[in-house]
Amino acid sequence: SAAGDFGARLLDWFDRHGRHDLPWQQEISVYRVWVSEIMLQQTQVVTVIPYYQRFMARFPDVTSLARAPIDEVLHHWSGLGYYARARHLHRAARQVVEQHQGRFPETLEDLEALPGIGRSTAAAILSIACGQRHAILDGNVKRVLARHRGVEGWPGTTAVSRRLWALAEAMTPTARVADYTQAIMDLGATVCTRGRPTCGVCPVASDCVAHATDRQSLLPTPRPR
Ligand code: ADE
Repeated sequence: SAAGDFGARLLDWFDRHGRHDLPWQQEISVYRVWVSEIMLQQTQVVTVIPYYQRFMARFPDVTSLARAPIDEVLHHWSGLGYYARARHLHRAARQVVEQHQGRFPETLEDLEALPGIGRSTAAAILSIACGQRHAILDGNVKRVLARHRGVEGWPGTTAVSRRLWALAEAMTPTARVADYTQAIMDLGATVCTRGRPTCGVCPVASDCVAHATDRQSLLPTPRPR
């Protein structure tokens, strides 16, 4: 199928060019992947790495994070910016200890109930840490799918968002879902970029609508103003 082929090409690209040695790809757990996903939400991989390592050395599990004073959590976040992320992380850790006996929940519903975790982040955590098949749709993935399928309209509308979620769902393979999730985020972050996408090295350029019609800079459609 078209979707299966998209996934297969992405996985093949990921095997050959993706990063497989990042700190959060070692000793995988829901806790470790959760912290990495929150740090990576607005910050590049290279910047996150040293922060992640210091954070994990000081707060190796959800209990140690929950017990720590907020000032110490903020100190470890200092320089990463968007401090609401650190406050949410700390509140979520306390909630996991109080409501889930310190064991991180492993369902979409329970994860989404935690501060700072939206639908896409919950899906990314469960696919990467647990191999559960869930579609993700963060900013990078919206861009990849809107370009590849030629989806017009600002993704901030309900109608366009629904279409993109449906595409994300249809493209997500049943096998190797953790690698697929990482692969499509990496493609958006490193190849299918906002500014100048490098379509010459893209594994799915051959049937990309934006590439075929030279509309990379017009898709996804910017917010109307
Ligand atoms: N942005 C959000 N999550 C990410 C991940 N796992 N890898 C790279 N960039 C990301």
